[in-house]
Amino acid sequence: MNVDAIKTVSVLGLGTMGHGIAQNFAVAGYEVYCFDQVADARDSLVERVRANLLQLEEAEFLPPGAVDTILARIRVVSTEAEAVGAADFVTEAVAEDLQVKQELFARLEADVRPETILASNSSSFPITQTASLMKHPERAILTHYFNPPHIVPVVEVVPGENTSEETTCTTHQFLLNIGKKAIRINKEIPGFLVNRVQTAMYREVWDLFDQGVASAEDIDEAIRGSMGMRLAAVGPLKVNDFAGLDINVITYKLMIQHMRGDKEVPDKMQQLVDEGNFGVKTGKGIYDYTSKSVQDETACRDQKYLALVKLFHTSADDNQ
Ligand SMILES: NC(=O)c1ccc[n+]([C@@H]2O[C@H](COP(=O)([O-])OP(=O)(O)OC[C@H]3O[C@@H](n4cnc5c(N)ncnc54)[C@H](O)[C@@H]3O)[C@@H](O)[C@H]2O)c1
Repeated sequence: MNVDAIKTVSVLGLGTMGHGIAQNFAVAGYEVYCFDQVADARDSLVERVRANLLQLEEAEFLPPGAVDTILARIRVVSTEAEAVGAADFVTEAVAEDLQVKQELFARLEADVRPETILASNSSSFPITQTASLMKHPERAILTHYFNPPHIVPVVEVVPGENTSEETTCTTHQFLLNIGKKAIRINKEIPGFLVNRVQTAMYREVWDLFDQGVASAEDIDEAIRGSMGMRLAAVGPLKVNDFAGLDINVITYKLMIQHMRGDKEVPDKMQQLVDEGNFGVKTGKGIYDYTSKSVQDETACRDQKYLALVKLFHTSADDNQ
């Protein structure tokens, strides 16, 4: 299907990710049919998206008065079949359960038109596996968003072994058209691209924390104010070019011998989980939170993310 043929889209699963993904499409001008198997998720969708949109309006990402027009494009429906029947492009953001996703993709084939593209937002399952029960897996693709998906620009587009080139090109272009920075991943590997790099960094950061090399606050500040800002500005490979590859070879050889290299979960991370401290969702992780502080910190975090998104688009334009 040509990208211009996409007129109507559908989002299944309206939780943390799904509601923001639906919002992206509505902001870009598409009618979005939305379904979640839980009534509360359906009933609360419009208000959750409204809150996000008001934040975007305040940050001048949206013109004043656009919120209601955007919300009018969101159609919450009460069955899966109704959600996907008219859709040219379906995105699922349901639970991270392989069997649930496999059965969903197989079931959707009966309800959608032959050319409809089916995209999964799975964080971990390759689309080849998710689409394994489908008769036409060439229409299935992975589009991996990052939380919060209505703010973070990048979406990884990962075709599977059986995804057609047409599906991949159309999906990639469609996501570019709706304003995302769609990145085509050429090889279907676990963790795709971003989560692999992130996990490599987490391993070292948690190890430093385990060793007591610095406090949690100091680790966060050190990375934010050095590596973090450089990564946001130019990206990890270009940072190397600016540093000088000759210097990099020397430091890499020296450092790599001292880096954590095993596959165990870092001690403190496991301990916090064993104690039931999962982070903001339980009120305690590495730091302590109250429900008020979570609200305030989330709003503050999103403001910072939005400021970075503005900078990201500036630097992306500079590079063109
Ligand atoms: N949370 C993240 O940071 C993140 C980032 C990238 C990708 N993902 C992926 O996105 C997907 C959704 O994650 P989430 O964090 O939004 O989860 P979530 O639990 O917040 O939301 C999932 C929603 O899907 C609904 N649901 C479950 N099964 C369903 C079905 N069969 N049909 C319709 N609705 C169904 C649930 O009721 C729930 O509202 C997962 O595959 C996850 O791996 C999550």
